[in-house]
Amino acid sequence: MERRSTWFLAALLILVLLQAGTARDLRNVKEPKNPQICTTLKPSGGDETKTIQKALDTCTKGKAVALSSGNFNSGPLTIPSGVSLLVDHNTTLSAIPTPALYDRGRNTCGTIDDHGSGCKPFITINGATGSGIYGKGTINGRGDTRMTGTNITWWHLARNALAVHKQQNNPTLIHINNSVDITLYQITVIRSPFYHVQSALTFGFTVWGITINTIGSALNSDGIDPTGSMNVTIAHCNISTGDDNIAISSLHAPTRHVSVYNNYFGHGNSMGIGSGTIYGVSEVTVTNLTMNNVRYGLYIKSNTLNGGLVTNVTYDNVCIYDSPWPITLDTRYYNKKGNHTPEFTNISFNNIRVLTNGTFIFHGVSKSIPVTATMKNVHIAKGSKWSVSNAQINGTWKDDASGDSCGNFGNKFV
Ligand SMILES: *[C@@H]1O[C@H](CO)[C@@H](O)[C@H](O)[C@H]1NC(C)=O
Ligand SMILES: *[C@@H]1O[C@H](CO)[C@@H](O)[C@H](O)[C@H]1NC(C)=O
Ligand SMILES: *[C@@H]1O[C@H](CO)[C@@H](O)[C@H](O)[C@H]1NC(C)=O
Ligand SMILES: *[C@@H]1O[C@H](CO)[C@@H](O)[C@H](O)[C@H]1NC(C)=O
Ligand SMILES: *[C@@H]1O[C@H](CO)[C@@H](O)[C@H](O)[C@H]1NC(C)=O
Ligand SMILES: *[C@@H]1O[C@H](CO)[C@@H](O)[C@H](O)[C@H]1NC(C)=O
Ligand SMILES: *[C@@H]1O[C@H](CO)[C@@H](O)[C@H](O)[C@H]1NC(C)=O
Ligand SMILES: *[C@@H]1O[C@H](CO)[C@@H](O)[C@H](O)[C@H]1NC(C)=O
Ligand SMILES: *[C@@H]1O[C@H](CO)[C@@H](O)[C@H](O)[C@H]1NC(C)=O
Ligand SMILES: *[C@@H]1O[C@H](CO)[C@@H](O)[C@H](O)[C@H]1NC(C)=O
Repeated sequence: MERRSTWFLAALLILVLLQAGTARDLRNVKEPKNPQICTTLKPSGGDETKTIQKALDTCTKGKAVALSSGNFNSGPLTIPSGVSLLVDHNTTLSAIPTPALYDRGRNTCGTIDDHGSGCKPFITINGATGSGIYGKGTINGRGDTRMTGTNITWWHLARNALAVHKQQNNPTLIHINNSVDITLYQITVIRSPFYHVQSALTFGFTVWGITINTIGSALNSDGIDPTGSMNVTIAHCNISTGDDNIAISSLHAPTRHVSVYNNYFGHGNSMGIGSGTIYGVSEVTVTNLTMNNVRYGLYIKSNTLNGGLVTNVTYDNVCIYDSPWPITLDTRYYNKKGNHTPEFTNISFNNIRVLTNGTFIFHGVSKSIPVTATMKNVHIAKGSKWSVSNAQINGTWKDDASGDSCGNFGNKFV
C-alpha cells in the first residue's frame, strides 16, 4: 500500500514537472554560432542593393554573405531560404530613405493614409528555413533621415499621421514570415522607420544577443514583435526604443511557447503581450529582465475588437525602475470594441521588484470573466496605487522595495 502511494506520488510529481516545464520554447536553444561565409563584400560607396541581393541569391545554403568594413547603402533585400546575412564588426548596412524603393505598387509608401501597408520591409525573410542575420555590425533604418524628395523624415511622417489619426506608410526593418528555424544573432539594429523586427507565422525563432537602440520619441518603433509564432527564444538582448520593446501577439495564428530571458530594456514602452490576442497567446515565460524607464513595464493589453485567451504566462526575476505603470493587465485597450473577448488567466508574477512608485492596473472584462493572477515574492515601492476591477489576484505583495538601480539582480548579460 505504502509503496504504491509512493509510486503514485512520484508519477504525479513527474506529471506536474512535465506540465510546469512547457510554458517556454520547447526547443533546446543554445547560443548560436556564425555560419560559414560564401562571399565577402566590400562597400563601393554607391547603391549596393543589386550586388548584395545577387550575392544572397547565389550563396550556398547553410552559408552567409558577409558585409565587411564600411557603410553599405541599400534598398530592400530578401534573404533566401537557408542563406544568412552577416554584417561584420565596424560595418553598417543602411536603408536608403527613398520611399519609392519600398513601394508595394500603390504609390503610398512615404505617405499617410488609412491602411499603413504601402511599404515593403527593408529586409524580408519569407517562406525560408534556416536563414538568419548575424554579425557584430549595425543595420540602420535611418528613420531620422529626410525621405528623398521631401523635407521630413520617416519619424516626422509617423508624427504627422498620429496628429490626423491616420497611418504612416513606413517600412518595417526586418520582417520574417511563414518561416522555420530563423536566427538573429549579435547584430545591432537601430533607427527603424517602423517596427524593428517582426516574425509572423514562424516556427523556431531565436533572437540572441542583439541590441536595438532607437530614441524614445520614435513612434511605432517596436523592438521585437513575434506574432502567430511558436518556439520563440529572445535572450541576452539589450533593447531601447520608442514603442514596445517586445510585443507578443497572435494576429493570424496562435502564439505559444515563448521564452524571454536575460534581457535588459533601457527605455521603451513595455515587455508586452497584445494588443491582437485573437488566436491566443500562451505558454510564455519571461525570466531575468531589467527594465529602466519603460512606460508600461509588464503589460498585457487587448480589447473586444481583437481579444482572445492569454494564459499560462510567468514573469520571474524582473526588476523595474522608473516606470509609471509597472504592471498593467488591461482588457480595454483604447476602448476599441468588437465581439472577441480578451481573457487573461493564470498570469504569475514571481520574484518581482519595482523600485519606484507607480500605478498597478488589473482590469478584467467582467465579474464572470475576471483576469486571474498570482503573486509570489513581489516587492513594490511605497506610494504605489492600485486600480483593480474584475480581477482575482492570489498571493500578496509588500511595499518595501526601494533603490536607485536594479543592479545585477537576476541578470547576466553577454
Ligand atoms: C495552461 O496550462 C495548463 C496546465 O499545464 C494546461 O492544461 C493548459 O492546456 C494550458 N493552456 C494552454 C492554452 O496552453
Ligand atoms: C517546437 O519544438 C518542439 C521541440 O523541438 C517540437 O517538437 C515542436 O514540433 C515545435 N513546434 C512547432 C510548432 O514548430
Ligand atoms: C573596428 O574599428 C576600430 C577603430 O577603427 C579598430 O580599432 C578595430 O580594430 C576594428 N575592429 C574590427 C573587428 O575590425
Ligand atoms: C516641410 O515643408 C512644409 C511645406 O513647405 C512645411 O509646412 C513644413 O513645416 C516643413 N517641415 C519640416 C520638418 O521642415
Ligand atoms: C506571410 O505568409 C503567408 C503564408 O504564406 C501569406 O499568406 C502572407 O501573405 C504572407 N504575408 C506577408 C506580409 O508576406
Ligand atoms: C545597452 O546598449 C546601450 C547602447 O544601446 C549601451 O549604452 C548599454 O551599455 C548596454 N547595456 C547593457 C546592460 O548591455
Ligand atoms: C499556470 O501556468 C503555469 C505556467 O506558466 C503552469 O505551470 C501551471 O500549470 C498553470 N496553472 C494552471 C492552473 O493552469
Ligand atoms: C486563486 O485562489 C482561489 C481560491 O483559493 C482558487 O480557486 C483559484 O484557482 C486561484 N487562482 C489562481 C490563478 O491560482
Ligand atoms: C512617488 O515617487 C515620486 C518620485 O520619486 C515622489 O516624488 C512621490 O512623492 C512618490 N509618491 C508617493 C505617494 O510616495
Ligand atoms: C536567471 O539568472 C539566474 C541568476 O543569474 C541564473 O542562475 C539563471 O540561470 C537565469 N535564468 C535563465 C533562464 O537564464
